[in-house]
Amino acid sequence: MLRIGVMVSGGGTNLQAVMDAMDSGRITNTELAVVISNNANAYALERARLRGIEAVCISPKDYGSRDAFNEAFLAKVDGYHLDLIVLAGFLVAIPEAMTRKYEGRIINIHPSLIPSFCGKGYYGLKVHEAALARGVKVTGATVHYVDSGMDTGPIILQKAVEVKKGDTPEILQKRVMEEAEWVILPQAIHMIANQLV
Ligand code: GAR
Repeated sequence: MLRIGVMVSGGGTNLQAVMDAMDSGRITNTELAVVISNNANAYALERARLRGIEAVCISPKDYGSRDAFNEAFLAKVDGYHLDLIVLAGFLVAIPEAMTRKYEGRIINIHPSLIPSFCGKGYYGLKVHEAALARGVKVTGATVHYVDSGMDTGPIILQKAVEVKKGDTPEILQKRVMEEAEWVILPQAIHMIANQLV
């Protein structure tokens, strides 16, 4: 049984997709131990509670320094003895000590076809704004392992999504979530849980 923790900052639609896939059997051999957010108001925490999943908040704002937060964050995560950490819209940089300790055991979903539109400053709607500004005709999403860089770790899965005439960043974001993110994130977890990757 793969013991996972999901890290979130916002609405948690990817978390929802993971929980739904666990219920429907599209993800097997997996146990969701905890959902962790840096933002106490994240609706994702509510989604977890509604499923009876432990939902906790740990915020950099509650610590005197980034180092103090990073240390507490790592200690908190360690306490759950996770096999896999899933970053699903988690907008806090993962401390280097954590990427080192959990090498090969942290994955992230990113809303573009990496290496396009990724790295510093590219998150959420900004990714789709940049893609539309560049005039790309195809975008998509990527699940990758997390290393000490930003969006630089080995790619596990990607799925392409068509950009359509008249798309706004919001419309494109929704299509990328529905057609790509909510599909490949559960798929990647299932593959890891069943040694298919
Ligand atoms: C998702 O689109 C995810 O790919 C993105 O944040 C959104 C979170 O939505 N992550 C990044 O941009 C990371 N660089 P959600 O809370 O509804 O799952």
